[in-house]
Amino acid sequence: MRLRAGTFLAVLAVAGIVILAATQEVAPPVSARQAAVQIWLATRAAGFTTLVMLSIQISLGLILSHPTNKSTWKLSKLLFPWHENAWVFVLAFLGAHIITTVLDEWADVGLLGALIPGASPYRTPAVALGTLALWALLFTGLTARYTKLLPAGLWLRIHRISHVIFPIAWLHGVLAGTDSVAMVGLYGASGLFVVAAVSYRYWVARQARPTFSTTL
Ligand code: HEM
Repeated sequence: MRLRAGTFLAVLAVAGIVILAATQEVAPPVSARQAAVQIWLATRAAGFTTLVMLSIQISLGLILSHPTNKSTWKLSKLLFPWHENAWVFVLAFLGAHIITTVLDEWADVGLLGALIPGASPYRTPAVALGTLALWALLFTGLTARYTKLLPAGLWLRIHRISHVIFPIAWLHGVLAGTDSVAMVGLYGASGLFVVAAVSYRYWVARQARPTFSTTL
């Protein structure tokens, strides 16, 4: 299976149905106030799912580019489709996160606020970070998908921008979220997981790099 607009729309539709059913289960509205809170719950649930999927996708990418994978693990054939298709899931849940945010009248982010960094009247810097993560995700993902349209090797240089997507998205969640303190476990676990994966990949790459004495 390769990435297609149809796959993305299917995942977005299924995610939408699951989010609606789940929020209905968790908080069945017994008042107009609770009915209004449902969309806010959906926003945050979709945001957390995006963050978890993003951690998985980035970690898979780090395994693919790990020096030991090239020499010993040889997992690329197995893991590459997962890394590639995880992008569709990240974008679909991010789509659900953005749609529910725009529909949430209380937050007053609006469509322009969601798509233009700094244009949201609600929690401006925090939402701007989320929007930057969205554009960086689209840029790095689409250039990696359509490498043949670019000069040789350019996609990989662009793809390295991916390293900043997780910190930006993570910070966005912590700063924009209403329940950042309650969700400290998830933020801590996802942050530590990705930092450990990045450190291990670059630490081994540094060790493997020829030094003055090994060249001699
Ligand atoms: C990769 C990109 C993104 C990720 C991983 C992400 C993740 C999250 C998470 C986890 C939360 C919940 C925070 C909490 O309650 O502790 C959140 C909140 C929020 N996000 Fe995002 N987000 C992303 C992009 C965006 C974009 C593009 C927008 C623009 C509409 C946005 C708007 C918001 C808003 C307004 C909230 C606050 C909801 C509230 O009032 O509690 N996010 N995000």
